[in-house]
Amino acid sequence: MATFTTPGITPEDATAVSNTLQERLSALNDLHLTLKHIHWNVVGTNFIGVHEMIDPQVELVRGYADTLAERIATFGESPRGTANAIEKDRSWDDYTLGRDSVQAHLGALDLVYVGFITSHRDAIKSVGEIDPVTEDILIGQTAELEKFHWFVRAHLENYTGQLSTAGAKSEQEAADQAR
Ligand SMILES: [Fe+2]
Repeated sequence: MATFTTPGITPEDATAVSNTLQERLSALNDLHLTLKHIHWNVVGTNFIGVHEMIDPQVELVRGYADTLAERIATFGESPRGTANAIEKDRSWDDYTLGRDSVQAHLGALDLVYVGFITSHRDAIKSVGEIDPVTEDILIGQTAELEKFHWFVRAHLENYTGQLSTAGAKSEQEAADQAR
């Protein structure tokens, strides 16, 4: 439990918000590593467009991790930013694709963003009851992540508005459907 926290928040509430933020911090750290992994492993037609589309998102997501870590510190708690923290906090599997085509990676990345954005929205709901300032930070992050998700999906959508990854239950399934 924190020995000090930000004014107007009880120590119990600061700990509750920090616990939610820690899980989202590990998720953001996992996401920027996964994005770089894709940046390095994507091959084939349209390589350069997707290779270069990913780097600004890596920078954005790393900045978001920094914001959440510093928010945890603001609450008087200690953010955990190690590889072990990611492993301990995550309830999802490691990204499954290695060297693969642009479409396969974007198909898998669609599912990664579905999971990430769903969890960020859940975090907005849980902290919104306690701290509107943290809620505002998470809302701003989610809007930008949803915009990048659209960039990904624009590569997977046909002229009738159908996604090639529709109904996929795993990254491998999504990758196969997107190929
Ligand atoms: Fe690079």
